[in-house]
Amino acid sequence: MSAAPLSLAILISGRGSNMAAIARSCAAHEIHATIACVGSDRVGAPGLDIARALGIDAFSLAPAAFDARAAWEEALVERLDAARPQLVVLAGFMRILGSGFVAHYRGRMLNIHPSLLPHYKGLHTHRRVLEAGDTHHGCSVHFVTEELDGGPVVAQGRVPVFADDDEQGLSARVQAVEHILYPRTIGWIASGRLAWRDGAPWFDGRPLAAPVVEDFDAPDRD
Ligand code: GAR
Repeated sequence: MSAAPLSLAILISGRGSNMAAIARSCAAHEIHATIACVGSDRVGAPGLDIARALGIDAFSLAPAAFDARAAWEEALVERLDAARPQLVVLAGFMRILGSGFVAHYRGRMLNIHPSLLPHYKGLHTHRRVLEAGDTHHGCSVHFVTEELDGGPVVAQGRVPVFADDDEQGLSARVQAVEHILYPRTIGWIASGRLAWRDGAPWFDGRPLAAPVVEDFDAPDRD
């Protein structure tokens, strides 16, 4: 491939397993992308050490170090833009971003959420799915808009839920799918299959009317 790889900035708050999965896909040339930097709102986020061990520029910027949230967001934009990313990837970034930040990266920022959106926005999705007795669960990749977990969903991975599942097992099953779905969706952007045009996602040259959904089984149950 001749064009330069898609440059990513990844924001995390914790473990960083999605970030690591994306890094693996880049390194294995499964997707034509490169990670320009990894940032966190938490100084001690374990994912920062993983990124550094992979030779990726990693930084933390804690909101507590700023007088106001707007000042923190401005500093974060400055730090990210210095790395010149083409796509900002929220990968377990657990802080709500303000409208200025979202507008700055409109059409250039993705998030992954552990539910089949629009169901179960917010926190504790696995627990809520189990409490509701749902037969299926999964994860969604969406463009970020001002509405929390509300931007256009482009890809979803579905997994079965079993009667005897617990929160931990279900969470692990969904995460295994996240590690496939997120790099793949980023790869679609890198290859030009997925794009943001006129305020909406386009896929293979047409407006994307509904997310691309894939069913996964439960390898942990085989
Ligand atoms: C992931 O499961 C992701 O879907 C979730 O946080 C986890 C981060 O794991 N994100 C959200 O809940 C955002 N609303 P990771 O740090 O190991 O990638």
